[in-house]
Amino acid sequence: MAVSYFDSDFDFEELLADGEEFMKTVTNSSASSMVVIEHDDESIGAPAWNDFHTNHSTANFFRPKRYIPTEFPQALSLLQSPSTFLEVGCGAGAALFPILKARSENENAVGVCKCVAIDVSYVAVDLLKGEVEKWNEKLKEKLKEKLKEKRIEEGLKKEDVECFVCDISKAPPPIPPSSITCIFLIFCLSSIPPSLFLPSLKNLHTCLKKGGLLCFRDYGLYDMTMLRFKKEQYKGGKTFRRGDGTLSTFFEVEESRKMFEEAGFEIVECRYALVENFNRKKGVRLRRCFLHAFLRKV
Ligand SMILES: C[S@@+](CC[C@H](N)C(=O)[O-])C[C@H]1O[C@@H](n2cnc3c(N)ncnc32)[C@H](O)[C@@H]1O
Repeated sequence: MAVSYFDSDFDFEELLADGEEFMKTVTNSSASSMVVIEHDDESIGAPAWNDFHTNHSTANFFRPKRYIPTEFPQALSLLQSPSTFLEVGCGAGAALFPILKARSENENAVGVCKCVAIDVSYVAVDLLKGEVEKWNEKLKEKLKEKLKEKRIEEGLKKEDVECFVCDISKAPPPIPPSSITCIFLIFCLSSIPPSLFLPSLKNLHTCLKKGGLLCFRDYGLYDMTMLRFKKEQYKGGKTFRRGDGTLSTFFEVEESRKMFEEAGFEIVECRYALVENFNRKKGVRLRRCFLHAFLRKV
């Protein structure tokens, strides 16, 4: 059954009053105590994320995001020809597993598919390798069934997934330049100090083929989670630091457009995705705002 996913449940304007009021509070009262993030502050990158992934090691905290194939149909259509996918800041494989699943269920997805997943945290990469093993076991069982029913003739095979530790703000991924067809950058850029956004995007631009795609989804301005930060956690601009040391920046559409263009991308889509959930237990509306962008290397 086709699954619908709605991402314009309300107007961005509805978030403005609360959002602007919130920003007034944090910028006014914390200006004197605010310590802006330095990009050479070693405690905010790998160490914070290693601790995070160690404390949430069941790979359940950031689950694979099932909406990825629906929200990025252009990426899905690449499965019909040989393609190489890269997931950056992969955590538990937010985009990787939905793509592998879509491929395993799609009879037309005949192309050779290679996936590379990178994360700054070795803990995340080790967890992901374990999940890939489990996936391959499941795949083996599925193929055995098909073989029994004589729906396939070929031998059993494993998915071609490589996982590396890599800090995208410091270096391009350890793969040949211009070798990737499609990159997923999902809720990762927001974890990097803003002064390193542009170098990170340029590192990704380098490894994309000409005409290659970048699928971007991250926190949008005035998202519900932004308004929950305390003034002491404000780090300037639209950036906050959680109690565990990890960062979160909330992206605004026009600023993001400029940043993507400066990094060399053509913008196919760059907008807010606005999703309303309802918490029945508490009887409250949860209004989520994400920055959704779809970019191309020209
Ligand atoms: C908010 S989590 C999101 C995980 C996953 N993409 C998801 O959506 O569920 C951010 C991820 O980015 C990784 N990360 C943070 N900074 C990074 C960097 N400079 N280079 C590569 N990965 C990074 C973290 O380890 C973490 O797994």
